Amino acid sequence: MSYENILYAVENGVARVTVNRPDKMNALNHLTITELGEAFDAAKADDSVRVLVLTGSGAKAFVAGADIGELLEQAGNAKGATALAAFGQSVFRKLEQLGKPTIAMVNGFALGGGCELALACTLRTASTNAKLGLPETSLGIIPGYGGSQRLARIAGPGVAREWILTGDMFSAEEAHRVGVINRIFSPEELEEGTQKMVKAILAKGPVALRFGMELVLRGWDMDQTAGEALETEYFGQAAETEDMREGMSAFLEKRRPEFKGK
Ligand code: COA
Repeated sequence: MSYENILYAVENGVARVTVNRPDKMNALNHLTITELGEAFDAAKADDSVRVLVLTGSGAKAFVAGADIGELLEQAGNAKGATALAAFGQSVFRKLEQLGKPTIAMVNGFALGGGCELALACTLRTASTNAKLGLPETSLGIIPGYGGSQRLARIAGPGVAREWILTGDMFSAEEAHRVGVINRIFSPEELEEGTQKMVKAILAKGPVALRFGMELVLRGWDMDQTAGEALETEYFGQAAETEDMREGMSAFLEKRRPEFKGK
């Protein structure tokens, strides 16, 4: 499949998705969001893909938000704006529910829809020069691609309120401090540091990874007792996998496991 506004490549178990509009700070217009949705579908369906890394082209931006010019055209009334938010949310949900770990490698500005895109990933790495924030209220709007909900769940309601109400840009260090960014690196080390994380994940049992992700994701919307019941259920299912036998045998035999994802 060929894309206009994104790059998509699969190598060694990793799907790499790059938003590719560097002259527009990789801003998300309708076509870009559509193509992202297609790429997420492709990565989900491809059994050779075990991890997805999402980043932005160029040295300045991950994604500097929704395309503001297009936003004014398409979301100039309640009906248009509601449809636009629902469409973006449906695509970002595909990313969140890919069933495989996804990492946003935040290489510069991640603002508005760009920050929301990163929040829909399982994990986030960032370079020390990255700037993150939800500046929508500066434009008289609010986050529309799930950011108000995901930020509150990832970093807590206090942080979500601060980011939404001030519209400030936050440093990667601050985003790391409040738990939005999992790991930070110098710009030169961002790629290598992210790859290290990818490598660690690739060495784990794929079914266990899927169960672990689903537990946290589904547990968000449950009370603790229900979440623990779900954990028990998955724990039981994991015990029936070949991967569990392989993982434990490999430990006892002092060798690396060779997981099959079954
Ligand atoms: N939508 C559309 N175009 C955008 C954009 C966006 N969200 N963000 C940046 N661009 C465009 C600029 O209009 C400019 O285009 P031009 O060269 O045709 O004029 C180009 O990208 C470069 O941006 P510029 O503002 O000149 O770069 P900068 O280094 O001075 O500032 C930012 C970078 C990210 C701080 C600034 O572009 C910005 O504030 N962007 C909007 C962020 C935002 O509010 N996002 C939330 C949207 S809901």
